[in-house]
Amino acid sequence: MKILAICGSPSRHSRTTQLADYVATLLEQNHIETSKVSVYDFPPQALLYGDFSAPTVKAFLQQVQQASGIMIVTPVYKAAYAGALKVLLDLIPAGGLEGKPVLPLVSGGSLSHLLALDYALKPVLTALKASVIHQGVFAVDSQVSRVQDGPIQLEGGLRKRLHEAAADFSQQLLAGREIKRFVPPPPLPLMSDRFLSLFSVLRSK
Ligand SMILES: Cc1cc2nc3c(=O)[nH]c(=O)nc-3n(C[C@H](O)[C@H](O)[C@H](O)COP(=O)(O)O)c2cc1C
Repeated sequence: MKILAICGSPSRHSRTTQLADYVATLLEQNHIETSKVSVYDFPPQALLYGDFSAPTVKAFLQQVQQASGIMIVTPVYKAAYAGALKVLLDLIPAGGLEGKPVLPLVSGGSLSHLLALDYALKPVLTALKASVIHQGVFAVDSQVSRVQDGPIQLEGGLRKRLHEAAADFSQQLLAGREIKRFVPPPPLPLMSDRFLSLFSVLRSK
């Protein structure tokens, strides 16, 4: 089972990408494999012009298709999600997230645009037919401190929310795997063949 984190921050030292790395570590503790794709993995032209023949774009679409679930990772930019994330999402074909649960991870300078997750991001994920959109986690910059080349320091409340989100996401993914593995037994015949032939004999009399 593999989860793909789609990271839409154009910042080289992205807070949101670091939050995604943190959640990925938690998922891996539950034996869920994770991988990550960021806008930096693409030649800018391939992204801007939606070049579906670019090898990186083809590889991205294959990763999305093969993922059992997706993490959508973005900063708030101008009261919505980052434009670079939209460029990535626009590459995914209609219904491309069908059957996949999604966990959004968003960060912003303040709580002012907390609802960007609901009014801007969720409609896009719904249009892509994500099976379940988890509530997600919104982090404010002051809750995440970055140490040069070191691990991020998370404020206690945020850490708790990230752990809860990772636990819910893992639980759903693992439950989904059990459902797929379950093969229902063939339906029992409502009436046995002997009973049916007896019934037809009685009716003909
Ligand atoms: C161009 C730009 C626009 C931003 N617009 C907003 C905004 O509208 N609301 C907000 O709360 N934060 C805004 N911010 C702050 C970022 O959302 C915040 O610093 C975020 O944690 C950055 O995440 P990143 O390091 O992953 O890029 C903006 C930052 C930039 C660079």
